[in-house]
Amino acid sequence: MAHLSGILLLLFLTAVASKSISYDDPVFGQPEQIHISYGLDPSLMVVTWITMNPVNDSIVEYGENGVLNQRATGNVSIFQDSGTEKRREYVHRVVLRNLKPGHRYSYHCGSDVYGWSPLFWFAAMRNDSGFVVRAAVYGDMGKDIAYSMPRLQEETQLGHFDLILHVGDMAYDMNSDNARFGDEYMNAIESIAGYIPYMTCPGNHENAYNFSQYTAKFSMPSSMNTFGGDANHFYSFNVGSAHIIGFSTEFYYFTEYGFDQIINQYQWLEQDLRKANQPANRARYPWIITMGHKPMYCSNSDDNDCLTTEGYSYVRNGLPFVEAYGLEKLFAQYGVDLEFWAHEHSYERLWPVYNSTVHNGTKGAYIDPDAPVHIVTGSAGCPERHDPFGIPRSWTAYRNNDYGYSRMNIYNASHLYLEQVSDDKGGKVVDSMWLIKSKHGPYSYFE
Ligand SMILES: *[C@@H]1O[C@H](CO)[C@@H](O)[C@H](O)[C@H]1NC(C)=O
Ligand SMILES: *[C@@H]1O[C@H](CO)[C@@H](O)[C@H](O)[C@H]1NC(C)=O
Ligand SMILES: *[C@@H]1O[C@H](CO)[C@@H](O)[C@H](O)[C@H]1NC(C)=O
Ligand SMILES: *[C@@H]1O[C@H](CO)[C@@H](O)[C@H](O)[C@H]1NC(C)=O
Ligand SMILES: *[C@@H]1O[C@H](CO)[C@@H](O)[C@H](O)[C@H]1NC(C)=O
Ligand SMILES: *[C@@H]1O[C@H](CO)[C@@H](O)[C@H](O)[C@H]1NC(C)=O
Ligand SMILES: *[C@@H]1O[C@H](CO)[C@@H](O)[C@H](O)[C@H]1NC(C)=O
Ligand SMILES: [Fe+2]
Repeated sequence: MAHLSGILLLLFLTAVASKSISYDDPVFGQPEQIHISYGLDPSLMVVTWITMNPVNDSIVEYGENGVLNQRATGNVSIFQDSGTEKRREYVHRVVLRNLKPGHRYSYHCGSDVYGWSPLFWFAAMRNDSGFVVRAAVYGDMGKDIAYSMPRLQEETQLGHFDLILHVGDMAYDMNSDNARFGDEYMNAIESIAGYIPYMTCPGNHENAYNFSQYTAKFSMPSSMNTFGGDANHFYSFNVGSAHIIGFSTEFYYFTEYGFDQIINQYQWLEQDLRKANQPANRARYPWIITMGHKPMYCSNSDDNDCLTTEGYSYVRNGLPFVEAYGLEKLFAQYGVDLEFWAHEHSYERLWPVYNSTVHNGTKGAYIDPDAPVHIVTGSAGCPERHDPFGIPRSWTAYRNNDYGYSRMNIYNASHLYLEQVSDDKGGKVVDSMWLIKSKHGPYSYFE
């Protein structure tokens, strides 16, 4: 008898145990990897998060003054990693609409049954040209040896930034350890990306399985105002007095995923730049700023990368033999003002350059320069360490091999300020520049 009740108890405990690891257990439906991104207009903000178990509800409760009196629902999609474990994660995406420009909102995300995240907050994008945009800009930040992460987290919490531009390469690599590196990275940046829009472009380290984790987990805006997926490769948005374009340099190097992606992106870029240059648009958003991972120019010791046909000059000059779909001419033709790059694990500020020739302004190098200004900022910290410099080139204005990140303030139609923070030197500003323009548009050799 005692024996039988022992068996019954065992069965009971087994049932409890199996229940406790069931997918229905709320504990396993907890939101994580929470981050936000801008939509195409200031009335939108997108909240994206992950659950490890299937949770069908995707809900954001939000409101002003700390009161969560509004509720928005969205969609869940499955991300299946292609590693040996074929892990599945559930990506929740909710678009908050009709936000009041500049107003501050609190939110949490999750669901009634499976639980809620902690409270986060954000400011809806301001919609006036007087909005001074303060951004942190960097590439090549991993989940380990991420030297810039603590300062970025602190500065974000102190309200120093309106948004982040992450110029490709993260986690090192998102797919490692059956996609767990990606999870850890997204959780690590939550204290940044849960509060201010985290806008990205892909780097070579995101390439695994056709960039699948990168396209699944971020939510960049497409021209259709849908979010994530292919839109994460190339997209644009307006903020303050700037039109910002994120695009993929990796299409030129991972052609095994589809050659046509280069052509599609090129055509999209041309159309987007043409639209941004319509007089009313350029007047309202005079600055055109691009971000792409692999630089057109640099002066690192492995600068074959940036200069030779084996290197990244495909992005600049176009594909070999056909010499088509290069971006340098396209960007200059449409008067792109500033181009951010990364990939080289260092910081380099360039003189205004076009076709390997420096085109300073007449009143100062950066006062009405006659070419786009390039900045290579890929030193936020990763396990691959630094990329040393080679001989300075004619376009080299300043370079620094400390770990760090860039800060950009877009003041108004004429004034843009940029500075470089060194994490090796305790947050000291090691470089700064003013880019001053009395007019924006195509450079003189295209007029
Ligand atoms: C932003 O401002 C433009 C006019 O400059 C207006 O057409 C648009 O409706 C505004 N959007 C929001 C969300 O207020
Ligand atoms: C989610 O929805 C699917 C399809 O409607 C259903 O089969 C599944 O049981 C649901 N899962 C949960 C946890 O509610
Ligand atoms: C959910 O996805 C469907 C298509 O799959 C789309 O029509 C709908 O707008 C999406 N809803 C939200 C809130 O994103
Ligand atoms: C890679 O993904 C893109 C969409 O992001 C798709 O168009 C392309 O066909 C895919 N390539 C391969 C080889 O699966
Ligand atoms: C770039 O400069 C070279 C000479 O240095 C010239 O032959 C070539 O036509 C120029 N290309 C463009 C696109 O201006
Ligand atoms: C551009 O301006 C900088 C700063 O004045 C100067 O050092 C550099 O030599 C100039 N380059 C050319 C080609 O004029
Ligand atoms: C633009 O911003 C700069 C820097 O704050 C300032 O010096 C300048 O006066 C401003 N210009 C206008 C037209 O407001
Ligand atoms: Fe890279």
